[in-house]
Amino acid sequence: MGSNNEIKVTIIGTGSYLPEKVLTNRDLERIVDTSDEWIVTRTGIKERRISSPEQAASDLGTEAAKNALENAKISPEELDAIIVATITPDMFFPSTGCIIQNNLGAKKAFALDLNAACSGFIYALAVAYSFLKAKLCSKILVVASEVLSKITDWQDRNTCVLLGDGAGAAVLSATTEKDPPKQILSIFLASQGEYGDLLNMPAGGSRIPASVESVKNRLHFLKMKGKEVFRIAVISMLEAARRGLEMCNTSLDKLKLLIPHQANIRIINAIGERLGLSSEQVYVNVDRYGNMSAATVAVALDEVTKSNKLNRGDIVELVAFGAGFTSGSCVIQW
Ligand code: ACO
Repeated sequence: MGSNNEIKVTIIGTGSYLPEKVLTNRDLERIVDTSDEWIVTRTGIKERRISSPEQAASDLGTEAAKNALENAKISPEELDAIIVATITPDMFFPSTGCIIQNNLGAKKAFALDLNAACSGFIYALAVAYSFLKAKLCSKILVVASEVLSKITDWQDRNTCVLLGDGAGAAVLSATTEKDPPKQILSIFLASQGEYGDLLNMPAGGSRIPASVESVKNRLHFLKMKGKEVFRIAVISMLEAARRGLEMCNTSLDKLKLLIPHQANIRIINAIGERLGLSSEQVYVNVDRYGNMSAATVAVALDEVTKSNKLNRGDIVELVAFGAGFTSGSCVIQW
């Protein structure tokens, strides 16, 4: 998806929402057999946010969306579409997109959900980019919202220390301006379906419908073979980061900031080192939020945008990896 057509796609606003409740590593020491020291050294995570029992993905997503619309200075009625990336939808149907559409009063917009796990925000940006390029829409809201705490097995120390809740959003707009700010230059997507068994939630779908057995066997929780996932995460994100830059003919030395998916500080550092980037060039917030799946990169993009540390023309790349496996990258010229 290079960009030679006259329509260009820009990010005109970003937003995020994090639940108030903070769960620290010390709190986790009281839930499973773990330690603050193990979690910090093996993952880099110090704390994560946890939604309240009554909060679903659409509630977090709606708050992030309002924040992004305010930042973009547009009203919900101006939206042509809403795309929601999530693996923790409110329910199978209606889509979380339609629920958020109703919450916002975005009457003109069509809405849909998309599942690409932790790469979901980048996949959703790609769909929005394509709709805008094809002139199907002129303004699209992309939301990534996750309440992973609701599908976390709080008896499994291998996974429960890694995950958190949150939502991020971005408003994308089509423009014919020659050199617009925050322009998407390229998007790269890939999937490796052969690795589906390494990271999944086995029950609740049509393969293993909910039953007394499925609940008893704890099959409605996220399952992960962490070690195998770690190795492929590094390789896939490196490939995605390189391919995204290649697609817009941008060399690595032009890259100002990499915003990688935040699953583990060791994965983030491995990618930064192999690309030859300094620590200032690699964004990190895994210490504060853990892994929020699709919401991770969206929240990070909002934090970076609002920190005002980037200058016009800077090259920024988002890169992510998740269950599927899926991976993807998106290069933005600030
Ligand atoms: N506290 C204490 N000990 C623990 C904990 C814990 N929370 N969790 C695991 N351990 C133990 C294990 O039981 C194991 O003990 P054993 O050797 O006696 O069996 C030991 O620590 C080492 O376990 P490893 O699995 O080798 O630890 P590793 O260094 O690989 O770290 C981790 C595990 C953090 C899960 C890492 O593999 C990882 O980050 N994987 C990738 C995660 C990821 O990228 N996910 C991507 C997407 S997520 C999504 O799509 C929702």
